[in-house]
Amino acid sequence: MIDQADWWRRAVIYQIYPRSFQDSDGDGIGDLRGIISRLDYVRDLGVDGIWLSPTFPSPMKDFGYDVADYCGVDPTFGTLDDMDALIEGCHARGLKLLLDWVPNHTSDQHPWFLDSRSSLDNPRRDWYFWRDPSPEGGLPNNWLSNFGGPAWTLDEATPQYYLHSFLKEQPDLNWRNPDVEKAMHDVLRFWLDRGVDGFRMDVIGMILKHPELADNPPNPRWLEGMPEFLRYLPVNNRNFPGVIEKIRGLRSVLDEYPERMAVGEVYGTAEEVAQYYGADQLDGLHMTFNFNLIVDRSWRLVPWRASAIAQVVVESQATLPSGAQACWAIGNHDQPRFVNRHNEDGWGEERARAAALLVLALTGTPFLYYGDELGMLNGGIPEARLQDPARFRARGRDPERIPMPWDASSTRGFSTGEPWLPYGPAEINVADQDGDPSSLLNLNRRALAIRRGEASLNSGGFRPVAAKEDLYVFQRRLEGSASVLVLLNTSVEPASTHISIDYSKVLLASTMDAEARLTKALQRAARTRDGQVEVTIPGLAAAWLTTGEQGG
Ligand code: NOJ
Ligand code: MG
Repeated sequence: MIDQADWWRRAVIYQIYPRSFQDSDGDGIGDLRGIISRLDYVRDLGVDGIWLSPTFPSPMKDFGYDVADYCGVDPTFGTLDDMDALIEGCHARGLKLLLDWVPNHTSDQHPWFLDSRSSLDNPRRDWYFWRDPSPEGGLPNNWLSNFGGPAWTLDEATPQYYLHSFLKEQPDLNWRNPDVEKAMHDVLRFWLDRGVDGFRMDVIGMILKHPELADNPPNPRWLEGMPEFLRYLPVNNRNFPGVIEKIRGLRSVLDEYPERMAVGEVYGTAEEVAQYYGADQLDGLHMTFNFNLIVDRSWRLVPWRASAIAQVVVESQATLPSGAQACWAIGNHDQPRFVNRHNEDGWGEERARAAALLVLALTGTPFLYYGDELGMLNGGIPEARLQDPARFRARGRDPERIPMPWDASSTRGFSTGEPWLPYGPAEINVADQDGDPSSLLNLNRRALAIRRGEASLNSGGFRPVAAKEDLYVFQRRLEGSASVLVLLNTSVEPASTHISIDYSKVLLASTMDAEARLTKALQRAARTRDGQVEVTIPGLAAAWLTTGEQGG
């Protein structure tokens, strides 16, 4: 249990997509009681906390990201009592619990929106964005929905258009209205009072819009294949100047409670993402996700290449204010599974093994997506069973949301009913990997345990040692503790490099073969004149070496 005020600086957080973790009532949809029954698994994995994707009452058009009541639990997932039990169950195991707060939009079934749309002079009219058709009778501006098509839908009743940056069932809240801001602050307090440890804040970068909702300029770098909404540069509805004042307001609510944390979902340039920390005062969000190991600014997938990874790290370090904590993710419920993203030659799992050692060794807080610890694959889902309405990717986001495979049985230990999405292959499952010392699951467990015990790894400084096309070497070092050297080879060929003779021991390598080879190499190492030894890292492997005791 990490119980200092800044626990989140050393923590590793595990993201649970509640529909797909564990079903307890046979309806084929995961739920809170199911999650509670699997908390020992999460604790034994060795993470420090859970981020739970939304479980609030919702029509589920966007599977919970369309919230109809911020202060409840959807019956599909359970009750408020179940949520209290989950909070308690986490805390009893030394785990933190983060909820997913969705401030940019509500469901169109939220009572606030029902009020707002009821008439032009309803007191809540201004809680959302209502605009007359343009003089020519068209859309109020050129903003596009992130899920495709215009960000405006005409409501025949009044008749005005309302703004939705996502589905038309997800109308955007107007954060320039002080009553909206206050109501949403109270939502945070409702959950903080119940004992949650903080929030992941959904598309927080979009809450503040240009005051006149001015058109966005065309994106000169848009190319066929990029998501449609990037045809225009979202300068007037994303990372809009002044958003940090809203963020400071949120932070002051969190600061009413000890030891709470907020991590924001922000897409943008490294500079844009960095501003959410609140410059040098660090009075903004505690962290914002860095997604640049997954996608670049044009939402193109980032290759598994040392030089590209090093570049992302350098940019992050160059832009974060001093003292700010980076936050890394290599998977989530919006992106194809890691193994699929890096499987063009069939070596996806090898890369996933190395990636675990990389993200757990970078300076910053890693977020792990459920099932990635097993190397879960995208589900191959027949067209007729696809559920996700957002099709900015051809098959939407269902493939990365299939049920957690607990065992090889026909139900995967997930549900006694028909699962809401089909199961993946039986070969990838917890039970089998549990009994296999060389499995990805056990690699993750070992890595998490080692990271927890090595002060240099979980809180030391960072020094790059080598960043070549396919080889990344850096040091983590905390005064008074053993130093750790992190080696990553992204080529399928072995790579050799010289390292200080002080690194005398292998803490962990991404495969048992790599571990045995490196251990042998360090034992046999003959000191050269400059105190260096040559080591060879097998293709696609990563390793953590240590000076043992102190020094380095
Ligand atoms: C980002 C979430 O991660 C995604 O799943 C959701 O669809 C959008 N925000 C809209 O809330
Ligand atoms: Mg259920």
